[in-house]
Amino acid sequence: MRQLTHKYPLIMDINPKSFIAESYRALRTNIEFSSFDDDLKSIVITSAKPQEGKTTTAVNMAVAFAQAGKSVVLIDADLRKPSIHNIFSKHNRGGLSNIIVKQYRVNEMIQETHIDNLWVITSGPVPPNPSEMLSSNNFTEMLDELKERYSVIIIDTPPALTVTDAQIAAAKCDGVILVVNAGKAKRDSVVKVKEQLEHVKARLLGVVLNNAKRKKRNKQEEYYYESRA
Ligand SMILES: Nc1ncnc2c1ncn2[C@@H]1O[C@H](COP(=O)(O)OP(=O)(O)OP(=O)(O)O)[C@@H](O)[C@H]1O
Ligand SMILES: [Mg+2]
Repeated sequence: MRQLTHKYPLIMDINPKSFIAESYRALRTNIEFSSFDDDLKSIVITSAKPQEGKTTTAVNMAVAFAQAGKSVVLIDADLRKPSIHNIFSKHNRGGLSNIIVKQYRVNEMIQETHIDNLWVITSGPVPPNPSEMLSSNNFTEMLDELKERYSVIIIDTPPALTVTDAQIAAAKCDGVILVVNAGKAKRDSVVKVKEQLEHVKARLLGVVLNNAKRKKRNKQEEYYYESRA
């Protein structure tokens, strides 16, 4: 297996038999079941605050879909603090920001990964105006193009209460997963971000409780998924 140099765990790849990997597969199945009747292809991953586990959830969910044989594109739409290029040891000389300004085409910027069926579009150079970029028609067109060619598009974003980027992306996508750090997140923040997403008519697919403690276990490395009631 290829060594990953980054500190973020690609647990689905490294340890597919673990409890955590099983939780990501359950998340994938839940999403598939919640969308059997309609077209749910583009999914935004966000959280209220920084460091709740968005990127970890996005990459492992993307791998879970790819391992199930779906063609998946993972997009780093955290244009403020991108990290997906590091996780997959990819270059970030060009990516999403270059596609949006039409400097390059999707084909030129999409990169293969060491995981079958999984491609990434890294952030590209960090722009001065991330929200405007994600609001643009060019971003919408790019998503439409990807939806024609791939089965699932997973989009990592910045924290939703800090900047509007996630809200903007969520309004253009088919669904949103909200990651909540069980140990840190405050109820008020979760309620607020949910309201914000509803305000832009985003479809909240569910909540991932990250870092939740399981009974009889010490390690804080657990992931749970709760469907929206
Ligand atoms: N369940 C977990 N158990 C242990 N460590 C975790 C867990 N989830 C995330 N981490 C670690 O916590 C840190 C933050 O996770 P991650 O980068 O996924 O969060 P984020 O919400 O994307 O952060 P940011 O807002 O900075 O983009 C990383 O170092 C990651 O490896
Ligand atoms: Mg992140």
